[in-house]
Amino acid sequence: MAESMSNRHFTMDLLPFTKPTITQDEQNAVRAVLASGWLASGPQTAAFEQALAERIGGGVRVLAFNSGTSALEAALLAADIGPGDEVIVPAMSFTASANVVLRTGARPRFADVDPVSRNLTAELALRALSPRTRAIMPVHFAGRPAALDALYELACAHGLTVIEDAAQAIGSRYLDREIGASGNPVCFSFHPNKNITTIEGGALALADQQMARRLQRIRFHGIEKDAEGNVNVSEWGGKMNMPDVNAALGLAQLRKLDAFNVRRAQLARRYLALLRPSPLLGLPKDAPGHSWHMFCICVDFAALGSTRAAFLCALRERGIAAGIHYPAIHLFGLYRRFGYAPGDFPNAERIGEQTLTLPLFPGMTDADVERVCVALNELIGDPAAKPALAIQPGGVYG
Ligand SMILES: Cc1ncc(COP(=O)(O)O)c(C=O)c1O
Repeated sequence: MAESMSNRHFTMDLLPFTKPTITQDEQNAVRAVLASGWLASGPQTAAFEQALAERIGGGVRVLAFNSGTSALEAALLAADIGPGDEVIVPAMSFTASANVVLRTGARPRFADVDPVSRNLTAELALRALSPRTRAIMPVHFAGRPAALDALYELACAHGLTVIEDAAQAIGSRYLDREIGASGNPVCFSFHPNKNITTIEGGALALADQQMARRLQRIRFHGIEKDAEGNVNVSEWGGKMNMPDVNAALGLAQLRKLDAFNVRRAQLARRYLALLRPSPLLGLPKDAPGHSWHMFCICVDFAALGSTRAAFLCALRERGIAAGIHYPAIHLFGLYRRFGYAPGDFPNAERIGEQTLTLPLFPGMTDADVERVCVALNELIGDPAAKPALAIQPGGVYG
C-alpha cells in the first residue's frame, strides 16, 4: 500500500466526479442573447419553457425558475402549504428538499428510504404520516424514478398533495411517461452538476392552469396584469425568474439531453460490469427509466479499517475526485432541533456514512471508468490495501 500511495499518483490529471458538457453551441447561444439587448426573462425563457413542455409531454405547462430550490418553494406556496402543516420528505436527499418546507413555515417530516434505490417508498412514507401531513415530496434520487404509483395511491387515500422533487431526474422515465408528466407539480434543477444545465436554474411542470397562473405571480413579486396591462399585487411573490441568458444555454443543452443520458447509462453499466463484487461494496442497480444523474456506491469504511476521508484521499492520489451525496438530512443541526436523532432512519444514516459518488458525466471515456474501477478494486478488494488515515479531509458536496 505504501508503494501504491507514492507520489506517482499526484502526477495524474484529476478526474472530477461531474463536469458539464459545454460546446460551441452553448457559447454561441449565450453570445447571441448577450448581443440581443434582452438579458432577463423574455423570448428565450418562453422558448425554453415551451421546449421542456413538448419534451415532457402529457399536456403539461412548464415554468422556468432561477433554481430548483425556487421551483420547489413556489410549488409548496402555490399548494398553500404553511405553518401548522407537515410535508413528508426523504431523509436521504440534498438538504434543499427539506429546507424549502421549513421556509414556508411548515415542518418537514422525515421518512427513511429504500437502501438500494435511495428513494422514498409508500410503505416508508406511511410510517411518517400524521394528522398534520399535507403533502409528500418524493425525490427521484440520482435520476432513478421513485415508485410513483404506490406513492400517488397513498396520497390519494389520505388527501395529500404530491410535489415531485425531480431535481436530479430530467429525462428520467416512469413506466411509459417522462418524469414531469404526472400533472402534479414536478420540480427540476439545472445546476451545473445536473444532466443538463442552465448554470443555475430550475423548472416546474404541472397541468393545473390556475395553479400555473398563481405560480407566475409567486415567481415574480406577486405581480399580475389584467387585459389592459394594469398591474396589481394580490399576494406575496419572490424573485425567482430565469434570465434569457440561462434559458438560451438550457435550450442548447436540451437538444442533447437524450445523447447525454444514453452516454451516462453506458458509463454506469461499464462501472457495474467492472467493479468487483465485495461484501464491503454496495452498488446501485440499473432500473427502467433511470437517467443516471449520479453513480453512488456505499463502502463499509469501518470494515475496511479506514474512514471515508482517508478513502477519498487515496482516490485523489490516484487522480480521482469522488463526491458525497449526501449526509442524512435529519442529522444536520437544524433538524436535530426538531428532535431528530441518530437511529431514526437507519437506511438513510448508513447511506449517509458510507456513500461515495464516482465520476459520471457524458465527457468521460471508457478508459476513465476503467481507471476508477482499477483504483476501487485495489482499495476495496485487497484486504492488505487499507488506505492510510486522512492526510486531508475530503468530501465534495453539491
Ligand atoms: C434532490 C434535490 N432537490 C433540490 C435541489 C436544489 O436544486 P438547485 O440547486 O437548482 O436549487 C437539488 C440540487 O442539487 C437536489 O439534488
